[in-house]
Amino acid sequence: MKEISENELFEIGIEHLRDVEVFPFHLYVYNPSKKSFHLYLDANTPLTEQKLTFIQYILQRKGRLAISNKQKLTFLEHMDFSEADIPSLMTEEVQEQEEIKTKANIVIDFDFEDEFIEADKLNDHMRLIQAMREEVLGLSQKISHTVSLARYFVEHLATEDNLINRTVALSYFLTKESKITDSKSLADIVVAAYLYHLGYTQMDMKLSSSPQLLMGDRMAHEHKKHLGLSQHLIKKSGIDISMRCKKIINEHHERTNGDGYPNSKTKYQIEPLALILGCASHLIEYSMGKIDGREQMILPLIKLLEKGDRKPGLEVDFGESLMENLISIVKSEFKEEAA
Ligand SMILES: [Fe+2]
Repeated sequence: MKEISENELFEIGIEHLRDVEVFPFHLYVYNPSKKSFHLYLDANTPLTEQKLTFIQYILQRKGRLAISNKQKLTFLEHMDFSEADIPSLMTEEVQEQEEIKTKANIVIDFDFEDEFIEADKLNDHMRLIQAMREEVLGLSQKISHTVSLARYFVEHLATEDNLINRTVALSYFLTKESKITDSKSLADIVVAAYLYHLGYTQMDMKLSSSPQLLMGDRMAHEHKKHLGLSQHLIKKSGIDISMRCKKIINEHHERTNGDGYPNSKTKYQIEPLALILGCASHLIEYSMGKIDGREQMILPLIKLLEKGDRKPGLEVDFGESLMENLISIVKSEFKEEAA
């Protein structure tokens, strides 16, 4: 593969490829083991599922994706982006403003692990929700429409302790614990966590309120339709959210062992933020009695995962790094108990 200097390129995220399969520009990939960029996909060559999977795999391993500076206009026009949509093309002034604003709003003296343990013990997640709200309100509005929408949602909805806000807050902080901290990703997970069960509004109430383990086969089959309904509503509403945000919603029931739905994807085929939303929503739902009908604390559930014990309905296939982050929370609680 032909090597190219980093100075001749600008970086993009995988979400900037939208769902397009053929591009009039070349794609370059940074290989961390070779420490250099190489041409990966020629212009007008289809981006097959296999090639996309490889890109996702390499991005999760400190790889990078880029376009030649010479093809900047072609890229922006064809993909319908402005320079402000691509962080690597943003002017220093806009980047600086965003950084200052984000830093100014990070909640001081807030330790997620300690707060999560306390929230679980008291069965009161309001401080987590408030901290998430303040941080999201601190994101710059200039970044993208999804960031503006995330700010709007938290401003108007993150005002009480309920299942959705618990899911949004846990998804948000697990994203940060996974060292994913850029404004666009944080906005994507927040908006996805508010919209992922939109489909429930079009279903029989019994399907969203019945514990999943108590559902018969027919009911469980009907329940799975919430994914398609959420997708349909989002499309019909014309709501302007990023492709990555849609992907998180569509894949929140995919699991790394391939047992998920709708496409039985495995490991690196699954959007990492979809695994975070899937994990956070599953733990919150389990704790609030939506799986086996009994309300229970989250930390004992994580302790079971650490020991490798399986409890009926308790899912574990969210990827190794996410499980490690969860288990480290439990370990810090053990430390507290020992002290
Ligand atoms: Fe779901």
